[in-house]
Amino acid sequence: MILGIETSCDETSVALVTADGRIRANVVASQAELHARYGGVVPEVASRRHLELVGPVLAEALEEAETELPEVETVAVTRGPGLIGALLVGISAAKALAWSRRLPLVPVDHLHGHVASLYLAPDAPEVPFLCLLASGGHTMLLDVRDRSGHRVVGTTLDDAAGEAFDKGARLLGLGYPGGAALDRAAATGDPAAYAFPVARVPGHDFSFSGVKTALLYAVRDLPAGELERRRADLAASYQRAIVTALVERTEAAAEELGAEQIAVVGGVAANSELRAALPEAALAPLPLCTDNAAMIASAARYTRAIPFPEYLALDAYATAA
Ligand code: KG4
Ligand code: ZN
Repeated sequence: MILGIETSCDETSVALVTADGRIRANVVASQAELHARYGGVVPEVASRRHLELVGPVLAEALEEAETELPEVETVAVTRGPGLIGALLVGISAAKALAWSRRLPLVPVDHLHGHVASLYLAPDAPEVPFLCLLASGGHTMLLDVRDRSGHRVVGTTLDDAAGEAFDKGARLLGLGYPGGAALDRAAATGDPAAYAFPVARVPGHDFSFSGVKTALLYAVRDLPAGELERRRADLAASYQRAIVTALVERTEAAAEELGAEQIAVVGGVAANSELRAALPEAALAPLPLCTDNAAMIASAARYTRAIPFPEYLALDAYATAA
């Protein structure tokens, strides 16, 4: 059994996953409410909250899996990219757990973790495939040739898709983080009400700053008191522009690279319109789209473990190498 720990941003999560990919527990404590009043994640606040939560979340995961620490054979932890202080809480907890039982430790790349959420699905895609990773922190196209890693073939030049959803939701008064709320608001709106721009930058990259600015102007130009009445249409049109950009870019890259299978992972993979727009794609299971430790434990199955006690000097990294 693998014990996974994820603390890269504002979710404190501990999971227990078997070597053959059965999720015995996947407890996620979200700090979203704590950061909502600031309109974004405050790193120092996140670190402190991880520190308070990591113990109780671990206890809850063990209880949910009806197991105990002696059953754990490997400890896996997110090493980066993410908030350095937040990552260090998870890494310290993982080191302590592994060291106390003389267990090996597997450092996992967060992006690899998102891709590995696919390997926990009953209908996991066969490699090779082209993976769209769209989250709050990243938007990338990854060429996945084996389960141990990937090659980046495209990335966003400015905002991540999830960030664009969150900023749009904020402009529409839908709270933070508003991706899911915007998705719900869009369901009753007309996606053709506004023609928001779909960026087509060279190569396989993405850009979401233009669409965000277009929404800002559309909201600003509304007559006073009109936002309430136009919110659903604005949400639907804005979501349509982001989803169109994601789908167009992904399909064009798949064609150019000769990829026969497309997969979608990350928080934005939970978006209902994106899921519907790619019916042939392998989609991360809904509960595993946003940050969680089960995907980290899953990635650990395909990552080299560091034997006891060599990992004691292991450090976090904030940005992708
Ligand atoms: O993967 P994730 O939990 O965190 C990062 O690694 O960044 O992704 C969180 C992002 C947030 O921006 C959130 O608004 C977005 O995923 N998100 C959605 C939906 N659910 C979550 N965006 C659009 N539609 C959704 N249904
Ligand atoms: Zn993530």
